[in-house]
Amino acid sequence: MIPPLRIAPSILSADFTRLGEEITRVVAAGADVIHIDVMDNHFVPNLTFGPMICQAIRPLVRVPLDVHLMASPVDALIPMFAKAGADIISFHPEAAVHVDRTLALIRDCGCRAGLVLNPATPLSWIDHVMSRLDLVLLMSVNPGFGGQAFIPETLEKARSMRRRIDAHSAAGGAPIWLEIDGGVKPDNIRAIAEAGIDTFVAGSAIFGAPDADGGYRGIVATLRNQLSAAMPRAA
Ligand code: DX5
Ligand code: ZN
Repeated sequence: MIPPLRIAPSILSADFTRLGEEITRVVAAGADVIHIDVMDNHFVPNLTFGPMICQAIRPLVRVPLDVHLMASPVDALIPMFAKAGADIISFHPEAAVHVDRTLALIRDCGCRAGLVLNPATPLSWIDHVMSRLDLVLLMSVNPGFGGQAFIPETLEKARSMRRRIDAHSAAGGAPIWLEIDGGVKPDNIRAIAEAGIDTFVAGSAIFGAPDADGGYRGIVATLRNQLSAAMPRAA
């Protein structure tokens, strides 16, 4: 069986003057997940969305809302985003004091829990918390801005993380999504999938797609075509 591959547009690159329309259009075009980049001008230099935006988006679509917290401290934000309708909440271990406790808090709030690893952050952060994870998000750029170039070293990291997740599943562990974030484009998504990623965040590639090329439907179809050409991996 081929595991599901999901496309997760990051609204960071959407047109904020008509955000609702952007989200409904991108889901109608085939997006599987909506990725919400929360930046605090402290953990990362940029400043973006709070829980009110998440709450405003929630009734528009049925797909999971994937909240990526680039904020420190994180704990106080978790119940706020859960109440605002988040399905998945992930955070960076460097931004939390007690990683295990914060992961448990996310599940206690009724959400799926994820850990985000920056390009230079080692995989060993997940060693003792695998059973608390529903998602691992590998950053393929340094967090803070859309439109940056994919860091190629992330591919080897993805392969190692895939082996760890597969070993965890083989030992009876619950499924863990393996997501990538930053610089995902039609010309690299196939190689990224072949490295074992199953969930692909894409901001500028999707929201910057020209109408002349079919707009959001066109770019989502292009990304999916590339994924269907990827070497299948057993589930
Ligand atoms: C970066 C964000 C990403 C970003 C991806 O800090 O976490 O989600 O929006 O944007 P692109 O796809 O343009 O690299
Ligand atoms: Zn993100």
